[in-house]
Amino acid sequence: MCARKIIIDTDPGQDDAVAILLAFGSPDEIEVLGITAVAGNVPLAMTAKNARIVCELANRRDTPVYAGCDRPLTRALITAEHVHGKTGLDGPVLPDPTMALADGHGVDFIIETLRSHPAGTITLCPLGPLTNIATAFQMAPDIIDKVQEIVLMGGAYFAVGNITPTAEFNIYVDPQAAEIVFKSGVSLTVLPLDVTHKALVTKPRNDAFRAIASPVGHAVAEMTDFFERFDKEKYGSLGAPLHDPCVIAYLIRPELFTGRQINVEIETTSELTLGMTVADWWGVTDRAPNALFMGDIDADGFFALLTERLARL
Ligand code: BDR
Ligand code: CA
Repeated sequence: MCARKIIIDTDPGQDDAVAILLAFGSPDEIEVLGITAVAGNVPLAMTAKNARIVCELANRRDTPVYAGCDRPLTRALITAEHVHGKTGLDGPVLPDPTMALADGHGVDFIIETLRSHPAGTITLCPLGPLTNIATAFQMAPDIIDKVQEIVLMGGAYFAVGNITPTAEFNIYVDPQAAEIVFKSGVSLTVLPLDVTHKALVTKPRNDAFRAIASPVGHAVAEMTDFFERFDKEKYGSLGAPLHDPCVIAYLIRPELFTGRQINVEIETTSELTLGMTVADWWGVTDRAPNALFMGDIDADGFFALLTERLARL
């Protein structure tokens, strides 16, 4: 089987970092063509830097990292230092990157990559606000039909919201961009909070990362140590939720996840519920399905896969 070609669009973020590492640790299944950074958890300068730190941690300086959009389509940027720390990657002490950013804009990289490959051969993996993807679709509508699939982390139905009572962070930061992506007609798979809040780094799972006894294993253990304090305090949960690695795990082992093909609309106007993913989980409307919206995960299987793949780096 050929490795699936993907572009990771990301705002690292400790959980984004683990997602990138999982992809690097899975070369039989995944070929990372490039990484596009977007403003989200922290401003763009830092997400673009953090993406390179992660590439260097994995000895993957050959992976081009592009800076993309520095703010949402129409709104002011909202960041999440209260969750991820000042750098976005608080926890381990990692050296500043020596690799340079790739020349050009991340959005142009997405457009050019889709144009230069056969239709249906590139999967987009957004792990942050959807600004880069929506901008690419607006600038070059011809690429929309060329996308194989979008597999993204964002939204919630049963878990409702994390950044507001009714919205998940990635969608809330740029609801206009999310609306463009969800209405694009591209085959869409969504890993919402309903799933990712079950992918918790408990103490034994954190110990398993540390026991890898490599720079990657230590860094991931320290990242999840840092990242867990927020969710433990807020939700009383057992550890850090590994939101974004669920996207990459889905590409490798889709059978770890279950969900429903449903209609999902994005709330873009209400002040009260801005950024809500209005998911017709129960099929109570006649709106056409536009997303495979996941609801559950085999968490033990997910952590076994993740630990095994991180150990390869
Ligand atoms: C999402 O928001 C960010 O804080 C995480 O990196 C993840 O992509 C979870 O709501
Ligand atoms: Ca993210």
